[in-house]
Amino acid sequence: MSTPDQLQAVFDLMAGDYPTRVSQNPSMLRMRKRVWQLLRSLVGPGHKALELGCGTGDDTVWLLGRDCEVHALDVSAAMLAQARAALKRHTANAQVHFYHCDLRDVSRHVTTRNFDLVLANFGVVNTVARLSDVEQVCVAMLKPGGHVVLNLMGRLAWWDLLSKRRRRKGVLVNMGDERIQCFYPTLKDCTLAFKNFSVVGRYGLGVCLPPPRISARQPNWNRLWDRLEVWDERLGDRWPFYHLGDHVVLVLKKLEQKN
Ligand SMILES: C[S@@+](CC[C@H](N)C(=O)[O-])C[C@H]1O[C@@H](n2cnc3c(N)ncnc32)[C@H](O)[C@@H]1O
Repeated sequence: MSTPDQLQAVFDLMAGDYPTRVSQNPSMLRMRKRVWQLLRSLVGPGHKALELGCGTGDDTVWLLGRDCEVHALDVSAAMLAQARAALKRHTANAQVHFYHCDLRDVSRHVTTRNFDLVLANFGVVNTVARLSDVEQVCVAMLKPGGHVVLNLMGRLAWWDLLSKRRRRKGVLVNMGDERIQCFYPTLKDCTLAFKNFSVVGRYGLGVCLPPPRISARQPNWNRLWDRLEVWDERLGDRWPFYHLGDHVVLVLKKLEQKN
């Protein structure tokens, strides 16, 4: 699997145009809105949120808007620079702490514990070979009863039926001269790995909405994207659709400790 240095090299390259190319993409905007709907019932004023792979800070700003204390980390220094800049534009005295590290090293960098929420939004954990590593991070950082929201590129995305996502051993993704390995777990892989958690919800994003690379070609077809968004919401939490989204969201709750 990729080292933190390889991840940093690739994501540093992506950071420059991420806000315009990715964050503003018609499908991404609508998919993120759906994640925020889901998060609304999980976090509010005074809660502590840990963001794994915060990227350019779209969710950081949103969480701060919910009056949460936010601890946000990313392996890419360039992504973190964008996140810090976004923060300055939105809010000056926010309760936010940034960390430049790989998510698997979180407990060495973040001393705070008892988080209410761990969020890994839009493909962050697809870079990690062993989901059990992510589970261990969540066990260590969350308070009992706290939630994890994982949003990852799933293996069964029907828009990508013939793609390399089906390969269990992961796929090499090239970016400039750099390459990293990505893994595409199923929801079942995730629930098996998160053995100290119960499943609260499963959602498919981009079940009807096309993946960002397709909607990017028609950024102004807003009426069509709005209609498909409605169908995403109707179908996304139903079997079998929650398996089939371009992204899949799993909401998990940490079990109370046994005595
Ligand atoms: C596709 S972007 C998503 C960013 C953000 N969560 C969002 O919703 O826009 C993935 C981010 O995760 C970071 N990342 C990927 N693997 C990571 C790892 N193992 N540890 C920490 N950050 C990681 C990347 O640097 C990148 O900023």
